[in-house]
Amino acid sequence: MKIEVDSKKVFINSGYTKEEIHPFWLRERINSDDALDKGTQQRLFDPTSLNSDINIDKIEKQNGFLQLFFTDGTNYKVKEDHIISEYKSHHLDPISIEKVMWNSEFNSFQKFKFDADIFEDKKMYELLVSFYKYGFVVLSNVPTEDNFIIKFANSIGSVRRTNFGEFFNVRSKANPNDLAYTSLALAPHTDNPYRNPVPCVQLLHCIINKVSGGKSTLVDGYTVSEKIKNDYPDYYDILTNVKVKFKFTDKTVVLEDTSELIKLDGNKEFKQVRFSPRLDYAPIIEKSKLDLFYKARNKISELYNSENYKIEFKLGEGDLLMMDNHRLLHGRTVYDVNEGDRFLQGCYIDFDSTEGKLRHLKRKFNL
Ligand SMILES: [Fe+2]
Repeated sequence: MKIEVDSKKVFINSGYTKEEIHPFWLRERINSDDALDKGTQQRLFDPTSLNSDINIDKIEKQNGFLQLFFTDGTNYKVKEDHIISEYKSHHLDPISIEKVMWNSEFNSFQKFKFDADIFEDKKMYELLVSFYKYGFVVLSNVPTEDNFIIKFANSIGSVRRTNFGEFFNVRSKANPNDLAYTSLALAPHTDNPYRNPVPCVQLLHCIINKVSGGKSTLVDGYTVSEKIKNDYPDYYDILTNVKVKFKFTDKTVVLEDTSELIKLDGNKEFKQVRFSPRLDYAPIIEKSKLDLFYKARNKISELYNSENYKIEFKLGEGDLLMMDNHRLLHGRTVYDVNEGDRFLQGCYIDFDSTEGKLRHLKRKFNL
């Protein structure tokens, strides 16, 4: 990739294509002391107050730098590499890391070994790339200290607090307000579908595990959505259109949110799945539509629960699972409390944490 100029125009040449860079795109990146705060890298002017027709009047290209003179009388010097790296980072943004679909055969996934310096290490970059590809990662060797999960989460970004608190303890207890706090099996589900916004990433840290059951299960909601899209287009259509209500109530709060079971983005591409059939309420819509919706919901539930898509593994003491709650479903197998203790701690972080960390490490290691 290189920068080329032609009298009053700047081009970016990728080796395959040559595109003109918009003059105002360059103008609003002006980096003189009165235009850009060097510490924060934030603008000291409002580009929306400028005329977007400002053009380039003159360009001087020398030793890897461009001196740009604009028709409004301003000018600045910019390193060509700086423009190139912004173009590259735009195309390699974390959210554009391509998802890799997986099913029950994906048993030999890579485990990352924790060490105290991992948060600023290249290994964390690799871990996050893997997280965006597969929707989850598992770390081993994480210190089994009480509350370590909070330290871990805050070393990537910031903990997303919920009404369950900053973190939650997963251990069977008397009078639970959620089935997670029993020793029962949990079918694949996404967490907190009733919350707006739904927490993005769940962290689950295994501190004690003396039982033979209680295995963690994961399903790739993206793989299942694509399966439905290809094999059951009518079901896909209704699941991506009908909004259901998710609701959680306890003594202190009533949480509600409505969404499609498969949510698409503006380009009609996969964005998010929500699934928690103990908490969802279909809307009152015409009977024939609802008839199709119920069939579609049964199908997606059948696929989520089938052995074809589910992976199952035991989280050992010191293991930490980090999973995308917008893409993956998780659950666990039943366990016997008489065998011994099983104690996990969990918390949530949002995508700005994982994306922010990924961009930071990419910048740091010049990747
Ligand atoms: Fe859960």
